[in-house]
Amino acid sequence: KVPKSVTVNGQTYATDSWTNVPASIVALTDRQLHLDQNHPIGILRSLIENSFKGMGYTFYNNFKPVVTTFENFDVLGFPEDHPGRSKSDTYYINEKTLLRTHTSAHEHECFQKCSTPGYFISADVYRRDEIDRTHYPAFHQMEGARIWSRSELGDSLHEKLRQDIASIPKVDIIVEDPNPAFSDATNPKQSYMTDVETELVSQHLKRTLELLVNQVFNEAKKSAKLAGSEEPYLNEPLRVRWIEAYFPWTAPSYEIEVWWKGEWLEVCGCGVVREQVLTNSGIENTIGWAFGVGLDRIAMLLFGIPDIRLFWTLDERFSSQFTRGSITTFKPYSKYPGTTRDVSFWLPDTDKLPLHENDLMEIVRDTAGDLVESVKLVDQFVHPKTGRKSQCYRINYQSMDRSLTNDEINVYQEKVRDILRSTYEIELR
Ligand code: PHE
Repeated sequence: KVPKSVTVNGQTYATDSWTNVPASIVALTDRQLHLDQNHPIGILRSLIENSFKGMGYTFYNNFKPVVTTFENFDVLGFPEDHPGRSKSDTYYINEKTLLRTHTSAHEHECFQKCSTPGYFISADVYRRDEIDRTHYPAFHQMEGARIWSRSELGDSLHEKLRQDIASIPKVDIIVEDPNPAFSDATNPKQSYMTDVETELVSQHLKRTLELLVNQVFNEAKKSAKLAGSEEPYLNEPLRVRWIEAYFPWTAPSYEIEVWWKGEWLEVCGCGVVREQVLTNSGIENTIGWAFGVGLDRIAMLLFGIPDIRLFWTLDERFSSQFTRGSITTFKPYSKYPGTTRDVSFWLPDTDKLPLHENDLMEIVRDTAGDLVESVKLVDQFVHPKTGRKSQCYRINYQSMDRSLTNDEINVYQEKVRDILRSTYEIELR
């Protein structure tokens, strides 16, 4: 079933027992939506980059998505048994090569080659995941990082950090329960850094991200107002809060959340870069931070886009609505009805799951492509006598661009059932 080789961005790779990337996913690697100045993802990227021009950052936007397991996991200190490494979560080209699951895969290379104090990386990233309005196997991230060399700055290190913090434009924003830079119990600092260094690097990181989210969400407010919304929060300063987080390659680690439409929205993970990431890149005696922000969900808010699949449509009724440099609210060109079909099956009476949920998602995605709006587990029970487990998934077939016929849907549904029947040890009901 696995082809002998896989070609991605013109480069051919030998496959092996790890290969699990379908042709439909490989096809997405040529789209480069973040480079399209007239696409919401590209417009958002430029908007953020523009607010950091002249502040000491290099912008990298052309990294190809195939990376090694070393770059994506090992160099960042992911433990061997981290779930992110599993075949059910990640698209492998072969045992040692994969489609990056995050832009952090390029930290190693950027720390090595970057000649400015900081950098931004924007790129498409890939994860095997569920199917719904906000999840797509390909999405976009923007990574940022900044470093200070102790050997170069010597005694003026603290002074320089304080100056750099002071030079970040102040924003009118409410920062709720600002959390401490580190805590020995839950969010420890690294032993190679002093308390003051950790404090100052964290402050620079936090002020930088507050500037970023303020910029982005002010645009979102403007566009909501232009679209006629009169919600009171649109005229109030943005509320954000910092919480503790965990990433294998940063310590301490944080997340920033933004109060948006009545709930806290997770926006961005970040932290103080671990020494070993820097020394692995040939950088000694240096301290710094890194963050990674997902662009797709923010672009959905900014442009009022109801379904993440729309980013990938080639329909001109979508693409014609967006132009470089401007945030406009998407006008749905039509709403086509969805049709649901259920698929139910018995799992064998063993501990080992024969079918991971993400495998099912992929079969559906591979069969019906973007004609699937969502796949949800709607029922699950254990037979009282046999102990066998039954699951029922509901597939909603719905196109963003046209009406689907029942006959067409039946063909997809039958195909999904056929693949399940012939590939997995399950009994369809
Ligand atoms: N790569 C992380 C993610 O995908 C985000 C991150 C980047 C966190 C850099 C810390 C530092 O969630």
